[in-house]
Amino acid sequence: MPQEHRSIYEAIGDEKLQILVDAFYKRVASHPELTPIFPADLTETKRKQKQFLTQFFGGPPLYIQEHGHPMLRARHMPFPITPTRRDAWLSCMREAVFEVGIEQPYERIILERLTMTANNMMNTPEDEKGESM
Ligand code: HEM
Repeated sequence: MPQEHRSIYEAIGDEKLQILVDAFYKRVASHPELTPIFPADLTETKRKQKQFLTQFFGGPPLYIQEHGHPMLRARHMPFPITPTRRDAWLSCMREAVFEVGIEQPYERIILERLTMTANNMMNTPEDEKGESM
């Protein structure tokens, strides 16, 4: 297909998307800001994120087929997402994207879209993490 008609999903390919998801959660699993809110076993989280990113990047609607409308902000409400946690999530993702190696302009577009979505996921001011002092 001519390059300008490819989706991001087609441009990076399914295999690389899986490698990206694995590289991302490897970092999440050891990030001190993120471990308190993520499950210890990230197998199911990874599976859902791979489904979500497949459709988010223009591939088949795998997430919606199994889980219904993403309603991402609502699904994140149980977790206190502060600006610091947003930054932590994005830094894990940025490092994973760089590790995997994605050609331009896709690398830039992916990071822009994920940054916008991450901004929309914040639901808690910095000083209300719900943790004891
Ligand atoms: C801004 C920082 C973010 C934090 C701290 C965060 C945190 C979390 C947590 C704790 C879960 C639950 C994991 C589980 O119980 O399995 C989750 C699920 C999920 N997150 Fe995020 N997230 C963030 C941003 C994003 C963004 C930007 C996206 C999409 C691009 C995203 C997509 C998802 C998806 C698809 C799920 C699975 C939802 C489901 O249960 O079906 N998250 N996230």
